Amino acid sequence: VAKKPKLLSDLFHDTLKDVYFAENKILKTLPKMAKAAQSKDLKAAFVKHEKETRGQVKRLQQVFRILGKPARAKTCDAILGITGEGAEIMKDYKGMPALDAGLLAAAQAVEHYEMSRYGTLRAWAGELGMPDAVALLEATLMEEKATDAALTTLAKSVVNVEAEHAL
Ligand SMILES: [Fe+2]
Repeated sequence: VAKKPKLLSDLFHDTLKDVYFAENKILKTLPKMAKAAQSKDLKAAFVKHEKETRGQVKRLQQVFRILGKPARAKTCDAILGITGEGAEIMKDYKGMPALDAGLLAAAQAVEHYEMSRYGTLRAWAGELGMPDAVALLEATLMEEKATDAALTTLAKSVVNVEAEHAL
């Protein structure tokens, strides 16, 4: 029997499962990062993004619904690697002046992974003629970009705090 050809719609569905796994993993990670962060502003940024992430999970469930498929996750090794590095920083830099800089870097790695995934999914949803899915994926992509930009701004003040520590 010839193998059934895998189409862009299959790839879209698989990638949706990947990012669904990633968002659920991030949802478990963000409270730990908020707890670990020393800067109040950084804590607040993680708490805010945790709330947004709940909405992003719901949007993904809506995209699954558009596909007529159950919302299912497929292990995403990339996010396990990125969050694993974050966990290592939390452990190795606990109580250290550079902790927040490390948490920021870990969070930005997560955002960039998500931006890459949502950018791809949005484009594919367009190719596949699913405008409602495009709008949902676009909304999340904009949130991830805004989070990334907010973290970049925060990074400057966190580095200043460390400079004060050193004085
Ligand atoms: Fe996200």
